[in-house]
Amino acid sequence: MEEVKFSEGTLALVNKIIRRYPEGKQKSALLPTLHLAQAEFEGWLSVPVMDYVASLLKIKPIEVYEVASFYSMYNLKPVGKCLIEVCQTGPCWLRGSDDIVEHLEKKLKIKNGETTSDGMFTLKTVECLGSCGTAPMLQCGADYHENLTAEKVDRLVEKLRTSDKRSSYMR
Ligand code: FES
Repeated sequence: MEEVKFSEGTLALVNKIIRRYPEGKQKSALLPTLHLAQAEFEGWLSVPVMDYVASLLKIKPIEVYEVASFYSMYNLKPVGKCLIEVCQTGPCWLRGSDDIVEHLEKKLKIKNGETTSDGMFTLKTVECLGSCGTAPMLQCGADYHENLTAEKVDRLVEKLRTSDKRSSYMR
């Protein structure tokens, strides 16, 4: 199996983040380190990746697993190149998020939680993304797409199809 290791640049960044905290408190660097890991290792956190993060932060693997499995922004299984996260909480639901999800399911020919067979898109519903005033909305990596309609969603999907970038929360 291939050794899990950050690139030199990412490792330097992780070490810089770790140095923000006093000795023995490296765990405080866990959330940003997991984001960097997810961005570097194809958008998801495998067990070997989480174990690698644990070794860098000098903490137990279980401490990484419990955090990574708590937040919806960490993926514990492979995801498509474009991860589409549709908000389904009250305000977005009242403004038609169910219709947006249904439209995406039909367009991408997958169900919520699935990935297209070409590995291009994963569709997921999530809780409030803090943009209730522009409901319904979705997130794709660091970008928000708001006041959605079926037409807007169609345009977005076509744009994403031609993108050569994997969606990431990191800018
Ligand atoms: S309810 Fe959808 S962003 Fe808040």
